[in-house]
Amino acid sequence: MLMYDIIRKKRDSEELSAAEIAFWIKGCVNGTIPDYQTTALLMAGRIRGFSPAETLSMVTNMVNSGEKVYLGDIPGVKADKHSTGGVGDKTSMVVMPIVAAAGLKVAKISGRGIGHTGGTLDKLQSIPGFRIDLTVDEFKAQVREIGIAITGQTAELVPADKKLYALRDLTATVDSIPLVAASIMSKKIATGADVLVLDVKFGSGAVFEDIDRSRELARIMVGLAHDSGIKAAAVLTSMNQPLGHTVGNALEVKEILEVLRGGGPDDLREISLTIAAELLLLGKVAPDLAEAKKIAAQHLASGAALAKFIAMVEAQGGSSDFSRLAQAGLVLPYKAKHGGYIAAIDTQKIGFAALYVGAGRTKKEDEVDHATGLILKEKLGALVKEGQALADIHCRSREQFASASWLLDDAFGFSDTPPEPQPLIADIIR
Ligand code: URA
Repeated sequence: MLMYDIIRKKRDSEELSAAEIAFWIKGCVNGTIPDYQTTALLMAGRIRGFSPAETLSMVTNMVNSGEKVYLGDIPGVKADKHSTGGVGDKTSMVVMPIVAAAGLKVAKISGRGIGHTGGTLDKLQSIPGFRIDLTVDEFKAQVREIGIAITGQTAELVPADKKLYALRDLTATVDSIPLVAASIMSKKIATGADVLVLDVKFGSGAVFEDIDRSRELARIMVGLAHDSGIKAAAVLTSMNQPLGHTVGNALEVKEILEVLRGGGPDDLREISLTIAAELLLLGKVAPDLAEAKKIAAQHLASGAALAKFIAMVEAQGGSSDFSRLAQAGLVLPYKAKHGGYIAAIDTQKIGFAALYVGAGRTKKEDEVDHATGLILKEKLGALVKEGQALADIHCRSREQFASASWLLDDAFGFSDTPPEPQPLIADIIR
């Protein structure tokens, strides 16, 4: 079999056989297929699409590229959650400690930042010492002992996703429904939790802006989960503005600590409680959604969720002295170019502004600067004056500030009348 022929077939819109997909994924992981051929195929697939059979083959081969974790010997209901990615989307670090505090066993593989969106692994790594490369044995032991572990893809765990994820991040091949579904579901099936909630974003900062495409992605992923024996639901949530106020790794960890201490922004708290409640419902901790939300809120208010977060940080080698989180040397205000109501936010531009100050990667080899990013001071619907600070940019230099400001100049839309409030949660697919 030749990789050249596989790329040509996809370029010409032909369907790849299961054998061809297996050949590609295996070769991509063991290095016999060079990255330039994989990225050519990814781009052809991004443009031409992949059929349901091809998507299923990708999922199966990605799962089988590493070890499948057997969690059946750990007592209790194993829970997992994944987001399709957003800007300021830090819900996993709130949701998972809540459900762990409520008795579910959290076993989660997360991802790094991808495209303009941030990633849980980068955020967790802003905690000095935090390890995201647990072995399968360490991962299982931690789930069994403290009830929560969040790790990354490794040579053992979905190595195919580790490779493809990093290549897609920088080659404009993220926004493909089959590729996102295969990437997310390979991680979820490899760890094989009993219950799973997917946070599928829509809006200007989501991978798919159009809610109908996000709904399609949600249905495909819930279907793949059910076919693998995982009870799953998908919550469709808005990314028409960043979630909470912070965008950037250490800044986001500080904000989740506020929520875990009972405060923090309302939107982040609301989405986190809804996703946690769905997990508690699927895990039969509560008989209905209202009761599940009450239980989730209690675990947040009591400090039990914070205690679980700290236990996880310490178990994974991180420092729970959060005063050690990195801080950028330069904090400069970005000021409004117009006065009026903030009627629209191009959230993708805000994600790229954070990336320009170092919070994400522009090349595969880039090190993320955990300290940098931005704090939004005003959100959708706020009435602001010309010259008022809309965000504080945390950066290392005036050049970085200038490039982020240039993007932010186009990120805010103003109107003379207040905009209609938008729903934070549009739908739940079960
Ligand atoms: N999250 C993932 O894990 N994979 C994607 O492709 C996008 C978001």
